[in-house]
Amino acid sequence: MCGIVGYIGTKPNAIKTIIDGLEALEYRGYDSAGIAYVEKNQITIKKKEGRIATLKKTLDFDLPIFMGIGHTRWATHGEPNEKNSHPHQCGKFTIVHNGIIENYAELKKELEEKGYIFKSDTDTEVACAMLDAIYQEELDILKTLSIAEQKLKGSYALGILCSDDLNTLYAMRNKSPLIVAEKGENKFIASDVPAILSYTNEYYLLDDFDIAILKENSLSFYHPKKGYFEKEKLIFEGNVESSRKEGYEHYMLKEIHEQPKVIMDTIQYYYDGTKESLDKNLPNLDKYNNIHIVACGSAYHTGLVTKTLIEEIVELPVTCEIASEYRYKKVFYDESTLVIVISQSGETADTLASLRKAKKDHIDTLAIVNVIGSSIAREADNVLYIKAGCEIAVATTKAYSAQLALLSLLTLKLAIIHNKIEVQELSTINGQLVELPNMIEKLILNDQYRKIATNIYQREDIFYLGRKLDYAISMEGALKLKEISYINSVSYPAGELKHGTISLVEKNTPVIGIITDSTMKEKTISNLKETSARGASIIAISTEVISDVAELILIPTVHPLWQALLTIIPLQLIAYEIAKLRGCDIDKPRNLAKSVTVE
Ligand code: AGP
Ligand code: GLU
Repeated sequence: MCGIVGYIGTKPNAIKTIIDGLEALEYRGYDSAGIAYVEKNQITIKKKEGRIATLKKTLDFDLPIFMGIGHTRWATHGEPNEKNSHPHQCGKFTIVHNGIIENYAELKKELEEKGYIFKSDTDTEVACAMLDAIYQEELDILKTLSIAEQKLKGSYALGILCSDDLNTLYAMRNKSPLIVAEKGENKFIASDVPAILSYTNEYYLLDDFDIAILKENSLSFYHPKKGYFEKEKLIFEGNVESSRKEGYEHYMLKEIHEQPKVIMDTIQYYYDGTKESLDKNLPNLDKYNNIHIVACGSAYHTGLVTKTLIEEIVELPVTCEIASEYRYKKVFYDESTLVIVISQSGETADTLASLRKAKKDHIDTLAIVNVIGSSIAREADNVLYIKAGCEIAVATTKAYSAQLALLSLLTLKLAIIHNKIEVQELSTINGQLVELPNMIEKLILNDQYRKIATNIYQREDIFYLGRKLDYAISMEGALKLKEISYINSVSYPAGELKHGTISLVEKNTPVIGIITDSTMKEKTISNLKETSARGASIIAISTEVISDVAELILIPTVHPLWQALLTIIPLQLIAYEIAKLRGCDIDKPRNLAKSVTVE
């Protein structure tokens, strides 16, 4: 949702260290940026609306600075402008914040009655003033932070400077992610690991209500209930290269090209073609007759694909719900239910809340997550990590595919448990695994996408149609295009378009038809013809030759368990090529953030 970086140490280029870290996190949120640093025993603040590049123009990188905090914002309270950007300062305190202070209005009223005047519209400034108000009474920073944790409701990761103690950088969190790292006499705080990777791949993950105290020559952790304590050090498996473009024009293109490797890394981590490896590496699933899949965005779309596969192959009922609905609605589960939450970041607020809802009701939970040690990963009863590495582009591609691959293995395990897979079919499934990376690679290198994009990139409405598995996949294709090109792209069950939305179809409206389920082929073709009869231009993505279409992208037929991994490739690259032609900011689309840690 936003990027936080803090530094204290013996190197005099803290400004560069912090800005480099923010740039590594800019994918998390980027509508404004700011930095506060200690200069001649004073706190200087520089902050600007817009990207980090705009802020950099105001900074003197040669200043000998040894401590500071920085922030890239994704606004929740107060529009993106300079006065609302972070850091915020009030009295003795200067802070940067990721999250939402849910009781900020009530706190603001109390503080205004105490005489505090607010310059911004943000909840963050209220939190800062509250720290100052408590400190004025306690005159003890650690006590102030401990009391603040009781008063603040909602989510926060805070980087904190206090002008009475400019040799210490403080940090604390509740629900929003924050890591702490050290390399010799250099200490760091950050929202995510890429910010510190060029210094170290070792880090500490703050838990809710932990307080970190960082000094040039010491690092300690404090918790209001347990006092000072030791934390376990974690190792990040990725590396600096994995968070660099490596010659690709965009991170998204790089990550699309990483998919063959990432998919196989994920599958091979859990499956060597034998039933035994599934039994050893995947949780026992034979007691579940009812599965709820809960997620947001693209993760939800992997849930839709999985729902179709489990229902079709295993013949078990699956509920797939959007987390922001699931967390509030009446749900029907019992001891034979498994709730599977899917999240690349492992920090999505609505998904985390749905997980907590299931756990509160004592329902077994399984998390499918990319970021190691993230909140969802740590709170689920069981967690299975995908092996997608660090995904920088806000629009997910490789993590989506890795989630699909792992969920297909889960489906395969369920099918074997429920005796729904014949030996011959299992041999086909395994045999195609060997070919899968090459098939994906060939689809990535197909040169049709740019030509298709050239014909349709100026359209304002584009429809994606499919049935069953193809409809589930079309949901992701439509979101990819929407996210990065800002075109109103809509996915529809092929049979549903004629119940109203077909009124939007006019001459040359692009309609992308997905046909990989041969049992649905004729029906979907009929639906496509209903649109072309009204002027639509059909682009078919199919495993079979389809006549009378403007463009046909032929893809190999594989077992349904692997089919989505192929079908999604043209959809990702058509979206990419269209966004490029429209001159959009592909890696950091407007209004978006990589991890939505607010509700
Ligand atoms: C995907 O391209 C989007 N950026 C977004 O829909 C994302 O999938 C969603 O916010 C869920 O994120 P998560 O997987 O980290 O929970
Ligand atoms: N809620 C704070 C604001 O709107 C922080 C948002 C963020 O996480 O970037 O400024």
